[in-house]
Amino acid sequence: MSGKVRKAVFPVAGMGTRFLPATKVVPKELLPVVDKPLIQYVVEEAAAAGVEEFIFVTSRGKGAIEDHFDIAYELHATLEARGKAEALTILDDILKEPGKIKSVRQMKPLGLGHAVWCARDLIGDEPFAVMSPDDLVLTKGSCIGELIEAHEQTGGNVVAVEDVPRDQTSRYGILDTPNAADRLAVVEGLVEKPKPEDAPSTLSIIGRYVLLPEVFEHLSKHERGAGNEIQLTDAMAKMIGKYPFHGLRFAGERFDCGDKLGWLQANMAYAMERDDLGDGARAIIDRYK
Ligand code: G1P
Repeated sequence: MSGKVRKAVFPVAGMGTRFLPATKVVPKELLPVVDKPLIQYVVEEAAAAGVEEFIFVTSRGKGAIEDHFDIAYELHATLEARGKAEALTILDDILKEPGKIKSVRQMKPLGLGHAVWCARDLIGDEPFAVMSPDDLVLTKGSCIGELIEAHEQTGGNVVAVEDVPRDQTSRYGILDTPNAADRLAVVEGLVEKPKPEDAPSTLSIIGRYVLLPEVFEHLSKHERGAGNEIQLTDAMAKMIGKYPFHGLRFAGERFDCGDKLGWLQANMAYAMERDDLGDGARAIIDRYK
């Protein structure tokens, strides 16, 4: 079943242990790249692709994510009184129409598949996007927009993929595909976090998905997979052969912001893209060469 993708799920319940102590009280999704939190980049990417409803799957201690997308009255009033128009515009740009940002709690950390399943009632019976704020994609367009276009053409599941070094396959969902080199790879199999020697390819899934609602039928069984977690990859794998399923080599560069070096790299790359910071960022890189 194809159809307009109106809703996106953002799994933001993770504890962010890889970024401690920074993430002791600050949700990792609010770590900035340059001057914008990770979650705002992915929400903007979704909005640019026509997504209208933004569903956060949160957990205890993650309330600041919802606050980020709410009006901060004291801040607004103070900036208004001081005539700070530019700062007010930055704040206004974050806001969505009331009711368009929703959240559900994932009460236990049972895996990505379980997190997505927690959003089932807010999704209903329509295709939807899943977007991880751990992954930023620097591109002129919108990575999820590219996936949505592919979904509109194929009518099935579409996941964003890129090649990773073989020694890193155990960090990703990996595709089994007969045409790995093509922009749109046909998915014939999926393996969650295989050892390098067991990986059917080096084409890995990154945190962008367009999924048919039928995935919930499989997620609702709560079957455990790799790491004893309820894996989204396993539920998707059950749909192979029943619905069209493709991996899309997306345009642009992806940064793994769940990793310290990936996050640092994203900071430099995004700063270099900016008119106000590009020269300064390049000078810093030259200095530390
Ligand atoms: C999850 C998925 C994995 C995917 C990855 C992309 O893993 O389970 O298939 O390749 O996201 O970021 P996680 O990073 O949550 O361990």
